[in-house]
Amino acid sequence: MKTAVVTGANRGIGLELTRQLLDSGYNVHATYRSNKGGLEQFDSDNLSIYQMDVRDKMQISNVVQSVDKIDLLINNAGVADGRWQSISEIDMEHALEVLNVNAVSPVLVTQQSLPKLSNGSKVVMMSSLMGSISDCQSGRSYAYRASKTALNMFSMAMKNELDANGISLLIMHPGWVETDMGGPNAPLSTEESVSGIMQRIEEQDMSMSGRYVEFDGSPIEW
Ligand SMILES: NC(=O)c1ccc[n+]([C@@H]2O[C@H](COP(=O)([O-])OP(=O)(O)OC[C@H]3O[C@@H](n4cnc5c(N)ncnc54)[C@H](OP(=O)(O)O)[C@@H]3O)[C@@H](O)[C@H]2O)c1
Repeated sequence: MKTAVVTGANRGIGLELTRQLLDSGYNVHATYRSNKGGLEQFDSDNLSIYQMDVRDKMQISNVVQSVDKIDLLINNAGVADGRWQSISEIDMEHALEVLNVNAVSPVLVTQQSLPKLSNGSKVVMMSSLMGSISDCQSGRSYAYRASKTALNMFSMAMKNELDANGISLLIMHPGWVETDMGGPNAPLSTEESVSGIMQRIEEQDMSMSGRYVEFDGSPIEW
């Protein structure tokens, strides 16, 4: 049975990933920061739930030690920046926090998970179209955009090392999805987005490592 670790799994896209991974026969290690939220609804022997703040090295280490192997690591947890509209709105302390959660912490989780990743394992970084520099026509959302661009570069910089160990990397834009972060006007449901993400994960192999794609497989310009 394949084993997956999902961060930020208590709501939104992470919760739906957990549901579809369980339905697909994965053994899922789902992590949450503050409360189990929607994870309480599942009744499955194939689900293990852990408290894990992605900023907390000790909590990450505890989860990784509890897992025999990781076939699929999905770095999904993320935070928004309040959609800052002008430079004057940027709160520097919060900007650093967004960069920490969205860009640095996925690297920390991947670093800590390395002993349990092996030939054939897959790592998914939940990025965003907002991390694309060429797509940044409207500006704004400063810290969120910068955090996802940084995540993309962290990911590509680690790609060679992962390649050498047979571990493939996928940089994913889930689409604009109706979650707490995406808001009520988003055109995509979590089910639609995650169905696409699951297909992308299924088809992912070493020849595709380092792709930056939408949930439906369309490539994104950096
Ligand atoms: N929704 C969209 O339209 C959209 C578009 C592009 C990219 N994305 C990306 O997709 C991912 C999931 O987004 P979503 O829409 O599902 O957002 P969401 O509904 O706001 O959920 C975010 C999740 O991340 C968790 N989280 C935040 N900070 C954390 C931390 N320090 N440690 C552990 N978990 C933490 C939250 O936990 P708590 O419940 O404890 O806060 C929650 O489970 C994010 O990386 C986001 O940037 C989303």
